[in-house]
Amino acid sequence: MGDSIKKEEIANDLLDANSAEDNVHHVNNPVLDLPTIEKKYLARVRACSKDRNTFYFTDGIAKVEIRIVSDEIIRVRLAPQGSFLDDFSYAVIDTDQHAVSFSVDEDETSYYVKTNKVICAIRKADFLVSFQDFSGKVFNTDDKPMHWEENPDFGGYYVYCSKKAHEDEAFFGLGDKATNLNLRGKRFKNWNSDTYGYAFNQDPLYKTIPFYIGVTGGEAYGIFFDNTFRTFFDFASENKQRTSFWSEGGEMQYYYIHGPNMIDVVKRYHSITGTHYMPPLWGIGYHQCRWSYYPEQNVRDITAEFRKREIPCDAIYLDIDYMDGYRCFTWDKKYFPDPKKMISDLAANGFKTVVMIDPGIKVDENYWVFKEGQQNRYFCRRGDDYFMEGFVWPGRCQFPDFTNPTVREWWGTLYKGLVDDGVAGFWNDMNEPAVFGRGTFPDDVRHNYDGYRGSHRKAHNIYGMQMVRATYDGLKKLYKNKRPFTITRAAYSGTQRFSSVWTGDNIATWEHLRIGLLQLQRLSVSGLSFCGTDIGGFTGEPDGELFTRWMQFGVFSPFMRVHSAGDTRDREPWSFGPEWEAICKKFIEMRYKLLPYIYTIFWQQHRYGEPILRPISLVEQHIPKNLIREEEFCFGDKILVSPVLNPGQKNKVVYLPEGEWYYYFNLQKYVGLQEHTIDTPLDEMPIFVKGGSIIPEYPVMQYTFQQKIDVLKLNVYFSRGKFDSYTYADHGDTFAYEQSVYAEKHFLLEGTDNSLVILQQVEGLYNERFDDYKIYLIGIPFEVRTVKADGVELNLLKDESGNDYIQVEKDFRNLIIT
Ligand code: GLC
Repeated sequence: MGDSIKKEEIANDLLDANSAEDNVHHVNNPVLDLPTIEKKYLARVRACSKDRNTFYFTDGIAKVEIRIVSDEIIRVRLAPQGSFLDDFSYAVIDTDQHAVSFSVDEDETSYYVKTNKVICAIRKADFLVSFQDFSGKVFNTDDKPMHWEENPDFGGYYVYCSKKAHEDEAFFGLGDKATNLNLRGKRFKNWNSDTYGYAFNQDPLYKTIPFYIGVTGGEAYGIFFDNTFRTFFDFASENKQRTSFWSEGGEMQYYYIHGPNMIDVVKRYHSITGTHYMPPLWGIGYHQCRWSYYPEQNVRDITAEFRKREIPCDAIYLDIDYMDGYRCFTWDKKYFPDPKKMISDLAANGFKTVVMIDPGIKVDENYWVFKEGQQNRYFCRRGDDYFMEGFVWPGRCQFPDFTNPTVREWWGTLYKGLVDDGVAGFWNDMNEPAVFGRGTFPDDVRHNYDGYRGSHRKAHNIYGMQMVRATYDGLKKLYKNKRPFTITRAAYSGTQRFSSVWTGDNIATWEHLRIGLLQLQRLSVSGLSFCGTDIGGFTGEPDGELFTRWMQFGVFSPFMRVHSAGDTRDREPWSFGPEWEAICKKFIEMRYKLLPYIYTIFWQQHRYGEPILRPISLVEQHIPKNLIREEEFCFGDKILVSPVLNPGQKNKVVYLPEGEWYYYFNLQKYVGLQEHTIDTPLDEMPIFVKGGSIIPEYPVMQYTFQQKIDVLKLNVYFSRGKFDSYTYADHGDTFAYEQSVYAEKHFLLEGTDNSLVILQQVEGLYNERFDDYKIYLIGIPFEVRTVKADGVELNLLKDESGNDYIQVEKDFRNLIIT
């Protein structure tokens, strides 16, 4: 006893002296690792060399590589002994974006690698790396030289980078962390974990997104630490002046991403890690899920009920119980005797069927998937070649090594039967990977890692991403030119290229509604815009009010799905009684009206890398107070939403950014750059549309493509000044948009006291299937006397409710209203 206290004291002293972030492997148990503490730091820079867009610096032994990815993105790598690891990344798709110009200079103190936007300085005396712009503003600078420690057990190094934290600096990003948006003062670990019923501040959760954004003096930059091992981030928590990130293995390799606008940092992060493809239109409708809807009659009853009650819905989910003994790619024929027939009947009624697929494959000599995997050596093995076995839903399981390209290819083909049965979407779960009892795989499990072999320490955080990648690639082939629809629980940076994500097993509490609001905003600025929560809460019982408020937030969640655990009471929109049902219906209908707008913001994400949910800190980063606003967000750039987060809440203080805003429900105008107290009756939630916007609107349908649209309604929200607005449309289910078969429409609005001019430009080859727009003018400050479209005078018409509108041919170039 006495001995161990002494050991602990020594350990604590050492931790103080060296600081905990520099001794990551001692954080959990400082006592055990005492003898191995020995850090090495980069020393004086001795030489610099150049190879095209890459510069090398050395202190005689260690090397640092500085690579110009683009004018605004610079990659830094460290090789402690001078040899870099293989340059391979699952996250990054483009490290060569062609900078306009770059060069290297030096003076007595430093080397300066310059693009036409950023200067990366390397201080000769101590190898400190910093990034500044040409005005001399330093955005990010090392606090200590990069450093490392040898790992005696596995080889390789623990690698560390410490940066100075500016006094005012706020930090954002990092994926699904269940905490406040501003990460300052906190420390995090990335290790994908199955965290049923997680708590506020619990860490780690399901995803690893080692990317953060710093905002200082109103200007932003980003750091993407592309390392799949256990990684750690400390945002001025241990030391108020320092931010650090480190890993238990792999390479110190990070991207500095210049802003200074936060949205540009996010766009540039997308430029290296990719964006989500355009989802099928039905994928952004309302989805109904449950663990589990079975047998078949239950599925038929639930879907029929939606149609009877006229509550729109596009997809119904089958959780694990559709399988035969939880064997993936099989059907339980007792519950689903004729799946093909059921799925086609559901499809005839406008329902797509989405099913669950987990990674654990049941050990069963009579099961074809297991046999194929075993014969071909597709399953993961332990360090000494034993199979990696663990218990999950089916009992004893083995697990495909998704980091092996041959295994991914095979996995993709396994979906054929389900695709032939008509299944339209797939949900990959438990892919952290989760194993009952022990949590996940032990560290010694070996992985192919696309030929760059490694232990589970290296592959753990990308296991889920590679699983859903295999799923997506396989489905893309099976569906031919149709877009797959996939969801995954575990993810690493770049997963957006293959899948949507959800936030796992949350709880039916008001606190979790708030956590979900934070998580979705954070995921969105971390590259995973296509995200959603289990609306209503997975475990526990919401009452009607919580369920309904969550549904309201759900309308503005990019992925909109109700899901609940098997031991909870019914969770359909009508389960809480008629008043709540009516409100849920009203809001689900709103989702369907907004679909063309939502589809447009998905396009802006896909093509331009713009996040779908935009925290206020991103919208107006230059106002310090905005850096701590987190209970409202912009949905795309035209709509602001402030979900109601408390029971019995009668009103909510809402901040509106610069500009004029219209309250969605009564079109009352509010001025921006200030807070307003907004009433929050149960059947409303604070939703505002920005003045100077065009919001396209569909009629309410029970599912996407239920009816042909003859005329597209455009709601024009007037404001004085010049504004841009966009709409986007395409087939809604093919990849033809990659060959320019889409219609991206750019509207330029100019409003004055007595006129409104709308110019339209069309890009792309898609011809929308309607001829005319029906334009409604909202908040126009003058009496309309004349309307001219491309010089031809038009009449103002009245609809059945007595509202004025303009009917104009959809390809008009200019519309002048005076
Ligand atoms: C996991 C998933 C949950 C699913 C359940 C059964 O807990 O997170 O969504 O319903 O497994 O498959």
